Amino acid sequence: MGEVDPAFIQDPEHRPKISFTEAQGIPLIDLSPIATHSSDEVSAIDEGVVREIGNACKEWGFFQVINHGVPLEKRQRIEDASRKFFAQSLEEKRKVRRNDKEVLGYFDTEHTKNVRDWKEVFDFTVEEPTIVPASHEPDDKELTEWTNQWPDYPSELREACQEYAQEMVRLAYKLMELVALSLGLPGDKFHGFFKDQTSFIRLNHYPHCPTPHLALGVGRHKDAGALTILAQDDVGGLEVKRKTDGEWIRVNPTADAYIINVGDIIQVWSNDKYESVDHRVVVNSKKERFSIPFLFNPAHYTLVKPLEELTNEQNPAKYRAYNLGKFITTRKRSNFQKLNVENIQISHFRI
Ligand code: OGA
Ligand code: NI
Repeated sequence: MGEVDPAFIQDPEHRPKISFTEAQGIPLIDLSPIATHSSDEVSAIDEGVVREIGNACKEWGFFQVINHGVPLEKRQRIEDASRKFFAQSLEEKRKVRRNDKEVLGYFDTEHTKNVRDWKEVFDFTVEEPTIVPASHEPDDKELTEWTNQWPDYPSELREACQEYAQEMVRLAYKLMELVALSLGLPGDKFHGFFKDQTSFIRLNHYPHCPTPHLALGVGRHKDAGALTILAQDDVGGLEVKRKTDGEWIRVNPTADAYIINVGDIIQVWSNDKYESVDHRVVVNSKKERFSIPFLFNPAHYTLVKPLEELTNEQNPAKYRAYNLGKFITTRKRSNFQKLNVENIQISHFRI
């Protein structure tokens, strides 16, 4: 590639620095004290871990976990399948391409804040099918089903993805339990929201880039779901905006760890006690990079609003309730039509 397509070029203030600050202080939390408990053993959970999670959510919005109970071979299987899938020709990958009817599958022209991301992705939902509103129109009550598009090659991809998804769901419930306890709530406080979940997994491939100082793998953004569980490979490139000073901090790859971040929905539920934090992906001129985020999202009919237990007269609700399904379909619509407006954001519901 000679000249880089201007669609990828970030405005100067958003371009990455060539030298970067490595993560000092993004908490690394050992989940082994709780790894063997099932979710009905709430009282057995280690208070130290709960405190660490609470502090990490408050101070960073990001942390890494080790000894999380996800078998390494399941992770390796999906990572291998992902590499094989992306190594195919564009023509092959486009056979499962996303379009305005099939919203899942392969996609290589995603834009974040109207600048194109230097990446290609493959999306699939955890529930098959996933139920969502048919349109973004507030009064239209019709529902529709999102179905996954599975490629023929590699043949093991589908099963690897489905098995991995089950592991992610299990870990996500465990983490939500810890988050609930850290907020002084019953451990199962959030569980009911995730029946009929709209969660999805994205396989990300960031090819090496001739102009890593001008483009980004993913531009700065916050995750709109409840909680994200990210597997990154050993290349590195994820940067988190430090809350204390706004500096971009690189998250060092840690073998077999998962990176967890608070999404917008936890921010609303907690009435801003735990904030969803900006992050972005820097690309690399020599190495391609792979990552796999799992986005844990409630059912489409969820009315997202600050929890009553966490609001009172001194600390009134900071958000109006919003319907998650309509939020999701509004986002999807703007992804396709490139409406020249900002994506819908939780800040639009701020009181
Ligand atoms: C995302 C994301 C980070 C990464 O897909 O929302 O933030 O390291 N990805 O791929
Ligand atoms: Ni993200």
